[in-house]
Amino acid sequence: MRVMIVVPGPASVELGKEIANQMGAQVIPVEFKRFPDGESYIRLDGSVTGEDAVIVQTTGPPQNENLVQLLLTADAAKDMGTRSITVVVPYFAYARQDSRFRPGEALSVKTIVTMLKTCGVNRIITVNSHNPAMLKALPIPVEDLSAITLLARYFKKKGFDKSYSLSMGKKGLPTAVEASQVLEGKHGFIPTQRDRITGNVTIEKKPLPVKDRDIIIFDDIISSGGTMMKAVVWVKEQGAKRVYAACVHALLIGDSKERILKSGADGIVATNTIPSSVSAVSVAPLIVEALRK
Ligand code: R5P
Repeated sequence: MRVMIVVPGPASVELGKEIANQMGAQVIPVEFKRFPDGESYIRLDGSVTGEDAVIVQTTGPPQNENLVQLLLTADAAKDMGTRSITVVVPYFAYARQDSRFRPGEALSVKTIVTMLKTCGVNRIITVNSHNPAMLKALPIPVEDLSAITLLARYFKKKGFDKSYSLSMGKKGLPTAVEASQVLEGKHGFIPTQRDRITGNVTIEKKPLPVKDRDIIIFDDIISSGGTMMKAVVWVKEQGAKRVYAACVHALLIGDSKERILKSGADGIVATNTIPSSVSAVSVAPLIVEALRK
């Protein structure tokens, strides 16, 4: 296999270095500045000419700034004559706007991928994107990895085997199935509905066999925390024992972490696709495996 070089973007310095370490790849650091008016400055501190470059940059908050940094890094790498550019975007901003839910809406995820293509990107790797089916319709190949097994293994190591894996919405059921294959307990889902205008999610209070069981609620994203809080309260009301909130992408806007814990959750566990105080599971091995293929 040809050796790749890894360029950790400003939003994913730690993860980028971890990936490079595990691959034994050279790191090209990125010099980053923010001008007084808020604009971003990017400089690649090393040669990428003729190389297969892997740029690692998550696009969690501040999404727009992180996206511009990613575009600037990719375009600079292209101008310096890279052989190929793979971008690893652990959390893909705007991926939830993946359809024209109402006439006239921007198809945000398609716009972002089109811009990445213009900047010379050949391949995108992401983790638990909101709608994997939609990725097939994008202008460059997007590989979507699942970190659910890694999260479930974390819980298993902590002694939560045989606990109940619960996911949000019927579409999320494969998540609960994936987790239960590791935890070897039962699985199910809480039916949900999203308001197309406000984006708020409501849950349907369908009875679940959670009484006296340890429950792990898996979701791809915790943003405002509203969905997770409602789920925690509902399973607690039905007599669940310990309840943990697990997500891949911990956006954790405002005081959502505190509010989820107050609603009765015994803990929150996330990956490091967006570095946060609850990031306990690294997605580096998953990404390295995909890069090595
Ligand atoms: C919904 O489709 C997603 O899977 C998450 O459940 C949702 O994005 C979480 O959002 P919030 O934390 O704001 O309720």
